[in-house]
Amino acid sequence: MKLDSEITAIVTGGASGLGAATVRALAAQGVRVGVCDIDVEAGEALADEVGGGFANADVTSDDAVAAAFARLRERNGQERILVNCAGTAVAAKTAYRDRETGAPAFHSLEAFSRIVDINLIGSFRCAAMSAAGMLALEPLAGERGVIVNTSSIAAEDGQVGQSAYAASKAGIVGMTLPMARDLARDGIRVNTILPGVFETPLVAANPAKVNEALAARIPNPSRFGDPDEFASLVLETVRNAYLNAAVIRLDAAIRLPPR
Ligand SMILES: NC(=O)c1ccc[n+]([C@@H]2O[C@H](COP(=O)([O-])OP(=O)(O)OC[C@H]3O[C@@H](n4cnc5c(N)ncnc54)[C@H](O)[C@@H]3O)[C@@H](O)[C@H]2O)c1
Repeated sequence: MKLDSEITAIVTGGASGLGAATVRALAAQGVRVGVCDIDVEAGEALADEVGGGFANADVTSDDAVAAAFARLRERNGQERILVNCAGTAVAAKTAYRDRETGAPAFHSLEAFSRIVDINLIGSFRCAAMSAAGMLALEPLAGERGVIVNTSSIAAEDGQVGQSAYAASKAGIVGMTLPMARDLARDGIRVNTILPGVFETPLVAANPAKVNEALAARIPNPSRFGDPDEFASLVLETVRNAYLNAAVIRLDAAIRLPPR
């Protein structure tokens, strides 16, 4: 798909990190980009910067996402591109001994469900609602739309404490091919990116020791990824009409060890 001012996009989680870099990269190509996020202040500031509008929506809510998409569509027109970046993490072991009492305990099921709800079901909700909107579009050079999901290398190399996060991200990998097959006849492609370790607020929240150890393990280039490098791959997945149902690691050759 050719990127220009005829094209409209929505980026969930677009207020920060990988999503914000994607919003800026698409806007730099002339695309009208709507930012969808729960962070109203940062989302509105970025929307003002790129001129594509902001809509506040928690991706775990059918009603909120439907209302946010309707609002952005009213402003910009039906999106041909959806980039799912909204996501978050939790760190807890499957079962463990309480540090003070030594009593056995297990991973909060509420926390596990919440991560799956946001990362996996939220991505599916936005993709399904966006694809339904794309069905009404006339194809441009044979294409109605492109959906890009953000998984993580934790989908393949989940570390200690990442059972919920890794499960949610592996679910995104698992749904990529069937979604691409579901939407193939309607000219909508679906691709998923598995970022390695990128310099964003999500990663900055890790303890400094954890981040130092992580950076030292990245083979080449031996540094955290720049969110612009993620955005560059999103643009390529949109432009390249032959890329469909792809699951692409973007990780400078790191394979995460157990911890
Ligand atoms: N940064 C990395 O190294 C890295 C690596 C692998 C995968 N990822 C994934 O990339 C995505 C973006 O991560 P990031 O590093 O840019 O994080 P970030 O925290 O900078 O940005 C995430 C954005 O998602 C929004 N968000 C969170 N929960 C939401 C919800 N329920 N509804 C709507 N918006 C919500 C936040 O407000 C925030 O603006 C996430 O899915 C993350 O799991 C990041």
